[in-house]
Amino acid sequence: MAKITFIASDGTTYNVEAENGSTVMENAIRNAVPGIEAECGGACACATCHVYVDEAWTDVVGEPEAMEEDMLDFAYDVRPNSRLSCQIKVRDALDGLVVRVPERQG
Ligand code: FES
Repeated sequence: MAKITFIASDGTTYNVEAENGSTVMENAIRNAVPGIEAECGGACACATCHVYVDEAWTDVVGEPEAMEEDMLDFAYDVRPNSRLSCQIKVRDALDGLVVRVPERQG
């Protein structure tokens, strides 16, 4: 289990309990976090689950793989800490993770 904090573009925070093995995107959808659309359902094929990983967490979360990197080219306002949340698997080490939701997707 890991606690994840989503910060929506209007500053509202959503604290969720996430199970290991689920993805950050699935937890956003399950908890109705606004701004995560996840149109492809987690197949790394839409880039509408884009989030910004808090700077304190980028090393722990790690870098995107090549396929995700390519898909991120389609995301809006991509930054060095951008990730597709469907490609981040929850694990104990991510307990306390903070991610920000961009002001829009795609
Ligand atoms: S849900 Fe489509 S790329 Fe993440």
